[in-house]
Amino acid sequence: MTIVTICVGSSCHIHGAEEITGRLEEAIRVRGLEDEIIPVGGFCFGKCSRSGVTIQVDDDVFTGIIPETFDAFFNENILPRAEVKG
Ligand code: FES
Repeated sequence: MTIVTICVGSSCHIHGAEEITGRLEEAIRVRGLEDEIIPVGGFCFGKCSRSGVTIQVDDDVFTGIIPETFDAFFNENILPRAEVKG
């Protein structure tokens, strides 16, 4: 199981956290990965970025993600973990 925590702090909210949450839920749904990838909301990681949203995938924190690049981020950093873990 992979836990994906999207920061919903004020800076990340401004940069599209809500839209990214929707994209994550959709990406999980269309692939039937509801039991493998668990999306949750989190408060400020202290890594606010002017360029985008902060997302934690298991223990790894990524910054600067925007809705337009989220699909590529999902394919690169989230999907492989779900597939590896089965
Ligand atoms: S508000 Fe998201 S890391 Fe600070």
